[in-house]
Amino acid sequence: MSKLIDTYGRKHRNLRVSLTDRCSLRCTYCMPNDFAAWIPNDDLLTTDELITVIEVAVSQGIDEVRLTGGEPLLRPDIVEIVERIASINDAPRLTLTTNGLRLNELAQPLARAGLNRINVSLDTLSRERFKTLTYRDRFADVIAGLEAANSAGLFPIKVNSVLLQGINDDEAPALLAWALENEYSLRFIEQMPLDAGGIWDRATMVSADQIYKDLSTHYSLTPVDGRGSSPAEEFFINGTSATVGIIGSVTRPFCGACDRLRLTSDGQLRSCLFSNEEVDVRKVLRDPNKEIQEKRIEIASRFQKTVLSKLPGHGINDPSFIAPARPMSAIGG
Ligand code: 5AD
Ligand code: SF4
Repeated sequence: MSKLIDTYGRKHRNLRVSLTDRCSLRCTYCMPNDFAAWIPNDDLLTTDELITVIEVAVSQGIDEVRLTGGEPLLRPDIVEIVERIASINDAPRLTLTTNGLRLNELAQPLARAGLNRINVSLDTLSRERFKTLTYRDRFADVIAGLEAANSAGLFPIKVNSVLLQGINDDEAPALLAWALENEYSLRFIEQMPLDAGGIWDRATMVSADQIYKDLSTHYSLTPVDGRGSSPAEEFFINGTSATVGIIGSVTRPFCGACDRLRLTSDGQLRSCLFSNEEVDVRKVLRDPNKEIQEKRIEIASRFQKTVLSKLPGHGINDPSFIAPARPMSAIGG
């Protein structure tokens, strides 16, 4: 039972935990190639601190934890982190979102450590476009990582794609054909105003409607009923049980059913990707005058404070919208 109920009655069961803001790619919609405003190392939560926060979250009714970044697989002790979360009492379902570069070596150990599922980001099937989009020539590593996830049995393997006008906006049907062939579950995500370079522009964003239209020229799409708290609108493809998802974060907000809270890698709780407020749990964890039990009680109360401050929606479409001060890599995807 979730104890994390906000003032609009939404029950929170899902915690996104960013393990680091560092990344091995530079996706243009996330950060510029010369990005330098990294979180200082000493501010990143230690593994012991992370586990304490997650244990408190679980005691408050969180039953799914998604590890994110930056790139979570850059955390040197990622396998140990997964193992420790998986052995918490009433262990939450555990998933991870990655750019895939280190998956080839890590898929098997992560699966053995107790990871349930994986999301891999891939926006294009062209090595050249991948370089343009990410400033790194690592397309082959992502493909190898996906294959390793498959061999490790991390099913269903979800692939996230962001389409950008003039770069890969013609690739929706090809990406879907590739995903079907490899039995990956594909989801397109509308580009959100979360990049450190401030390049987001509503006028050039590839919308959920556009993606639906492009896919419909090649596939027959039938809506799947019962979306629950999932941000993706799912569609059956050509009358089969295979599906594709479209996440219209900007044009079709799903805030009304949101069940997510976030913990940044420097120990700040957020009620939303787009909130402009953070609640500090690092300070509590590092308070020399508090015993561990006292810290746990204070962290639980800070989870309550976070959830009670949650606004009804992200407000991207309000004229007064202000993008969050920190980029996605710092907040956690
Ligand atoms: N808009 C939409 N999606 C984004 N991601 C990162 N930045 C943005 C953005 N500005 C995606 C990544 C990854 C997931 C965690 O979020 O591609 O798949
Ligand atoms: Fe790294 Fe993900 Fe940002 Fe790309 S979107 S630069 S993979 S954190």
